[in-house]
Amino acid sequence: MSAQTALPTLQGKHIVLGVSGGIAAYKSALLARLLKKAGADIKVVMTQGAHAFITPLTFQALTGNSVHDTLLDADAEAGMGHIELARWADLVVIAPATANVIARLANGHADDLLTTICLASPAPKYLAPAMNQQMWSNPIVRANTERLETFGWSLLGPDDGEQACGDVGSGRMLEPETIVERLLSSTSSPAERASRSGISGISGKKVVITAGPTREALDPVRYLSNYSSGKMGYALAAAAYAAGASVTLISGPVQLEPPTGITVVNVTSAEQMLDAARSESSDADIFIAAAAVADFRPQQVAEHKIKKGGDSTASLELVKNPDIVATIAGEYASLFCVGFAAETQSLLENASSKLTRKKLDMIVANQVGEGLAFDQDSNAVTLLWQDAQQTLQQRAFPMQSKHQLARQLLDAIFAHYQTQ
Ligand code: C5P
Repeated sequence: MSAQTALPTLQGKHIVLGVSGGIAAYKSALLARLLKKAGADIKVVMTQGAHAFITPLTFQALTGNSVHDTLLDADAEAGMGHIELARWADLVVIAPATANVIARLANGHADDLLTTICLASPAPKYLAPAMNQQMWSNPIVRANTERLETFGWSLLGPDDGEQACGDVGSGRMLEPETIVERLLSSTSSPAERASRSGISGISGKKVVITAGPTREALDPVRYLSNYSSGKMGYALAAAAYAAGASVTLISGPVQLEPPTGITVVNVTSAEQMLDAARSESSDADIFIAAAAVADFRPQQVAEHKIKKGGDSTASLELVKNPDIVATIAGEYASLFCVGFAAETQSLLENASSKLTRKKLDMIVANQVGEGLAFDQDSNAVTLLWQDAQQTLQQRAFPMQSKHQLARQLLDAIFAHYQTQ
């Protein structure tokens, strides 16, 4: 069964679809249609600006419901359309969300119907920003968006790519299909997600994943780190959640949007990552170590910025960081542990020796260097494990997007997990 056709879990859900005034408003027509197809009942609320881009009639025809845009509506029961709509909504989705509507929402304005509904509704709220890339990277817009996230709003996108204004960058509204997929994923039960993903046996299990680099402080303004982007770990977290797992992602500093539905624990150093891994592993079923943990940290963290001095050389005293995955595998014997081995040479020999040395159940051997894997969107790997007779088994996964690869790897990891 394909992911798209199974279980329309938006069945019967009341969705207020807020449309604000951006060029991406034309995509909201398709979004309304797809949400309705997924079983939802949609009421569209347009801002004043949205009228310049699309007509209420379009949404009325697509949703079968009249469109709302007036705060003080004499036709609404008791003249309080905002309260009625706020109570009616199971979900509020604003797509496109312009910089202006984001700013008004972030500051609690209630000067039109949409912003007032958002203040009056306890329903989960989603925001699909759409604006010029320069506007999206503006710190004021970012601060407003982050403020909304701290108040529980969930961010859908934005996407990277070519923009209507001719710029290229981040700020495009997510495609309507992706928005529906994200909503389906975040509003469905573990069993529904598992059934849609086609990956079985993981529904309701707790998966803990480490991702990204660690930073090891030298002084208040400097650190040692590596080029890991966190993309592989984040893709694994998204795929594990989509397969029905409850996922905790322990993340070093990265520039990635956390996948929907996942608990993220942000850490900086290897020692913090180990602390988080220890406390998250006590009730976990599977631990996947995808982080590129710094092997060493400076022995001393200088209290003040280290001065250049007159010497032409300088040296650093380093101490070994704890091996997080080996520690967790040692402390939680029944936890199914999977590691990564990023190698520039003798890939399979080095990976298989790490498999046994760190007492892992499986290891993902990953050729790195010369532009491979680190900070790339694609990856090719070989999964290694020992069968019941202690014979080394391996399965190669060809070069593909990290998202696709994550799904295939999890399929194989979960299959092996269930034989244990
Ligand atoms: O020994 P090496 O760093 O090559 O091992 C890689 C694997 O071990 C990865 O899964 C990585 O996340 C994990 N690791 C760890 N803690 C460390 C070093 C590596 O968990 N300090």
